[in-house]
Order: sequence, then structure tokens, then C-alpha cells
Amino acid sequence: MATDLHAPDVLHGLAGLRFGHPVYIYQQIGSTNTEAKRLAEAGAPEGLLVMAETQTAGRGRAGRHWLTPPGGALAFSLVLRPALPPAQAARLTMLAGLAVCEGIELASPLRVELKWPNDILVNGKKAGGILVESGLQGDRLDYAVVGIGLNVSQAPGADQVEFPATALADGAGQPIDRLRLLRACLNRLQAQYARLADGEALRADWTARLAWLGEKVVVTTADGALSGQAEGVDADGALLIRGETGEALRLVAGDVRLRQG
Ligand code: BTN
Repeated sequence: MATDLHAPDVLHGLAGLRFGHPVYIYQQIGSTNTEAKRLAEAGAPEGLLVMAETQTAGRGRAGRHWLTPPGGALAFSLVLRPALPPAQAARLTMLAGLAVCEGIELASPLRVELKWPNDILVNGKKAGGILVESGLQGDRLDYAVVGIGLNVSQAPGADQVEFPATALADGAGQPIDRLRLLRACLNRLQAQYARLADGEALRADWTARLAWLGEKVVVTTADGALSGQAEGVDADGALLIRGETGEALRLVAGDVRLRQG
């Protein structure tokens, strides 16, 4: 079926990269993550990429729906087979976030921040997200699927999202070439993947990009809301907050927003 992401162009765009081979390109799919997981469970090699022009059941963190307007987005999922203890699996979300920021900055004039734990922010609005899903074999990671969704030229409306959204092209004030962006992201994913064991390096780079660093934030968790000053992340991607009475808080899941007043 015809697609705006023409297979020959994609193959040409990914030439010479280690990640992105083989590549499966769909005009429409339910979720690239679901398909990549299926292929990983069937033995797909590290580096396999599933991408789609549009998704009918794109998934975000915490069971949220992810919108992929045809022609206006990038939606792709990469199969990895990391030598990583399951307890450190959140490092994959860290490295993917950094790689996507760097890829966007290589392919556009934008400067990009990270909203913990998995959001790509441009001018304080969400331009993309990352969903890492992994499979275990016994007590080790068998595979991980790194799913990346970017609003390239279209963003969902305020009534469709919980956090304000934007598109990269709107922030940049110019069109963004999707294939150039894809290549830059995969290139940086390869480079960051080599640093996986070095949680300290990931921590420092992540903290440098953390939205609202040093500011008062509210984190909504399954156990309720906590507020305090954002101090950074640790080597395994947990958010570090200095609570209202000076206590050190370490959060592994939740939604962060800037505290008003
Ligand atoms: C989030 O912001 O919560 C994460 C969004 C991740 C969306 C991407 S799009 C490609 C891949 N396929 C999916 O179904 N989800 C991820």
C-alpha cells in the first residue's frame, strides 16, 4: 500500500546504520510496539525496526492512548537485546530520551528538554514520548522494545491530551524532514546504547535536560500527590525530589507538573 514514508526512501535514509535493519514499514498498524514485541518474541534480531505512518491503537505510558496522524508524525519501535539486569531496565527509557533529544537537535534548530520519566518537551509542551516494554526470560531481560512517538508537523488538540502538546515544526518555525529526523534519532540511539551500563553518565546528561530542575513540582503517584523541589534523577532513572520538610524522596513512577503558586 502506498505510504508517505516510501520504503526505498526509508531504506536509503537508514543506509549504514546498525539500528533499523531489518525495517518493517506500515501504512497503518495497531501499534508498532505491539508488532515489535510480537517479532521480538518470535526471535527478531537486535536492531529490527517497525514503523508506521499511522497507528490505530498507539499506546502511551500508563495505558494512555497515543495519536499518530498520518503524514504528521514519526512512530517507530526498535527491538533491543540488552545485557542488563531487569532492575536496571529503566535505563533504556533514559537512554532513549537522551537519544531522541539529541536526534531532534541534530535534525532541527530546536533545544529540547525531558519531562520525567518519558516525555520530550519543546518550549514547555509535549512533542513526543517514549514507551519501553521488555520481555523476561527467567531472571534476565530477553528483549526490550523502545517505542518512540514524535509530533513532527501535527499535534493533538488540548481536548485530546492531559498535558499541552506541540509539534516539532511549530517549535522550530520550519518544516522538519521526517527521514532525516528518524536517521538522527537512530544514530544517537546507537551511540547512547553503548553507554547503557554507565548509569552515572546517563544520570548526569538526563539531569542536565530535566524540565523544572530546581523548581517546585507536584508529582502524582498511585499513592497520592507529593510536592517538593526537583533535584534530578538517579542512575536508574528515579526522580529525586526534596520534600517540603527537607526529606529526600525517590520516585519510580508518577506524573510531574510545575507547582502553581
Ligand atoms: C507516552 O508519552 O506515554 C509514550 C508514547 C509512546 C508512543 C510510541 S509511538 C510508537 C510506539 N508504538 C506505540 O504504540 N507507542 C509507541
